[in-house]
Amino acid sequence: MGRLRGKVSIVTGAARGIGRATATIFAKEGSNIIIADILDEGHEVADAVNQAIGREVAIFVKTDISREEDVKRMIDITLERFGRIDVLVNNAGIGHFKDILETSVDEWDRVININLKGAFLCCKYVIPHMIKAGGGSIINVSSIVGVRGGERCVAYAASKAGLIGLTKALAMDLMKYNIRVNAIAPRAIETQMMYEYKGEELAERLKRYLFGRLGKPEEVANAILFLASDEASYISGEVLVVGGYF
Ligand SMILES: NC(=O)c1ccc[n+]([C@@H]2O[C@H](COP(=O)([O-])OP(=O)(O)OC[C@H]3O[C@@H](n4cnc5c(N)ncnc54)[C@H](O)[C@@H]3O)[C@@H](O)[C@H]2O)c1
Repeated sequence: MGRLRGKVSIVTGAARGIGRATATIFAKEGSNIIIADILDEGHEVADAVNQAIGREVAIFVKTDISREEDVKRMIDITLERFGRIDVLVNNAGIGHFKDILETSVDEWDRVININLKGAFLCCKYVIPHMIKAGGGSIINVSSIVGVRGGERCVAYAASKAGLIGLTKALAMDLMKYNIRVNAIAPRAIETQMMYEYKGEELAERLKRYLFGRLGKPEEVANAILFLASDEASYISGEVLVVGGYF
């Protein structure tokens, strides 16, 4: 407990799934939390976190991370309420599982805008405040398919590989400001996104996974916590696969 004591963390896509688990664990470790999500369910997550902690440590800011104005507003609200930003978790994302012949140009743009441009916008407007504060930690939630590709996920894999490129380039540029930038690459995690994607073929695919089961959102959140915390003070530009590489 207390690994993020006194910190202020923005977690995008925290209304459910991996983001929700991350916000919950971060709050238990002493961080204030901004839950930035397009879904109104973010209110309930903030209420649940605040109830568990016993005071108001979490606020929900309705945000579409693909919209520049939304991102700027979310950051303004964060600074008004908490005065600083120490950790940014770029977790919000959408799945898209089609091959190139099935993928329309509009679908490509939507996936790239949310999964990649959204993280770029959050980084762009958060980093000046981290520089002012003397440091910070950014964690981008990529995917195993961003590392090694996958079947029928052309736009999604491109967006997630793009996040890895963004992570590595930022890590180099921001080292001198004491800002660490890392990525997480989960395999199959038990969330709504996973069920929408796999559905009935899931049982069959599970046989191919190393662990023989889906991962839990908390198992990803704990890896994100490690990279956010001072325990990872000498790690930047890294991609941590959660769920087994092969
Ligand atoms: N579940 C998996 O197996 C898996 C594997 C690898 C990577 N990931 C990645 O993990 C992240 C979290 O996914 P999850 O599995 O928890 O899925 P999820 O669908 O449960 O959660 C995604 C969250 O992002 C939010 N979101 C979507 N578009 C947004 C936007 N434009 N602005 C703000 N918020 C938006 C959603 O409202 C939702 O709350 C995603 O980036 C996903 O690509 C998931």
